[in-house]
Amino acid sequence: MSMTLPRKVRMVEVGPRDGLQNEKAVVPTAVKIALIERLADSGLTVVESGSFVSPKWVPQMADTEEILAVIRRKPGVVYPVLVPNMKGMEAAEAATGVEEIAVFAAASESFSRRNINCSIEESVARFQPVAERAEKLRWRVRGYISCVIDCPYEGAIAPAAVASVAEKLLAMGCYEISLGDTIGTGTPARAQAMIEAVAAKVPRDRIAVHYHDTYGQAVANILASLELGVAVVDSSVAGLGGCPYAKGATGNVASEDVLYLLNGLGIETGVDLDKLASAGRFISGALGRAPAAGVAQALAARA
Ligand code: HMG
Ligand code: MG
Repeated sequence: MSMTLPRKVRMVEVGPRDGLQNEKAVVPTAVKIALIERLADSGLTVVESGSFVSPKWVPQMADTEEILAVIRRKPGVVYPVLVPNMKGMEAAEAATGVEEIAVFAAASESFSRRNINCSIEESVARFQPVAERAEKLRWRVRGYISCVIDCPYEGAIAPAAVASVAEKLLAMGCYEISLGDTIGTGTPARAQAMIEAVAAKVPRDRIAVHYHDTYGQAVANILASLELGVAVVDSSVAGLGGCPYAKGATGNVASEDVLYLLNGLGIETGVDLDKLASAGRFISGALGRAPAAGVAQALAARA
């Protein structure tokens, strides 16, 4: 391989949020809490734990406040939540123990409308006071961008469009920009072209990748991203998830698959594969299905 891979990677677990937000059946709050605690116990240092969004839009996340009030927090682990506007920020402030939030924009106008009911420009304007308030509170703000490769409504998205949104989120104070292949259509060459465009505006150590695995390309895309110096990878235990506003999008890349890849490359994460897979079996059992992931299934067959 031509470029040196990072020595360490930070895995950002998004299963309890990105995964569970898409479940049709109600997932009991106690199950979500147990999942979050198990994920933190596996050595993950970031476990995204919910969203302060409209419960009419995303009913699954309506118990975020309750979850934050009850979870046993492990020192050294952060439990970020999504915040789309000042109303969400007020809810986050009223909740227990928030120290990091994420705002979420899109690189496609149509997706922005469907997901958060406003244009890209309006979304950035809505995030501005959220970021300012967060700065006063000394909370960290992460910025997501959806549809960085393709949009379910518009098709291919220009890398320059992604870079332009990334630059705005960075200027607003986001410490990291997570690039979301929301519908999982990306392949390594397109992922690299997109990352290079973003890296012209955003330092590489502030870039994270967030691949959905709809077409089974996520692990390949992650390797291609690591080759470009990206060292933060979002994933979802047991491959949970999808996006309610992106028809046909399946789950995020499974955390077990990502960790198996990173272990194989000798890249440090601090995460224990057996404990992570056990958390995956726990939530899959609670949802009444097998884990989506190749690695998780292989380990389950062995367990
Ligand atoms: P809106 O309807 O345009 O907002 O929704 P509004 O300001 O006009 O308010 C309408 C109603 O919503 C009012 O209530 C507000 O109080 C309420 P009503 O008077 O009708 O009873 N409201 C809220 N309630 C709770 N919390 C709030 C909030 N804001 C307004 N924060 C809004 C705009 C953004 C709220 C809405 O579109 C929404 O909640 N969308 C959900 C978006 C979402 O959660 N999507 C999934 C996460 S993003 C994702 O998965 C992608 C990612 O994984 C990366 C990738 O893969 O691409 C991150
Ligand atoms: Mg996502």
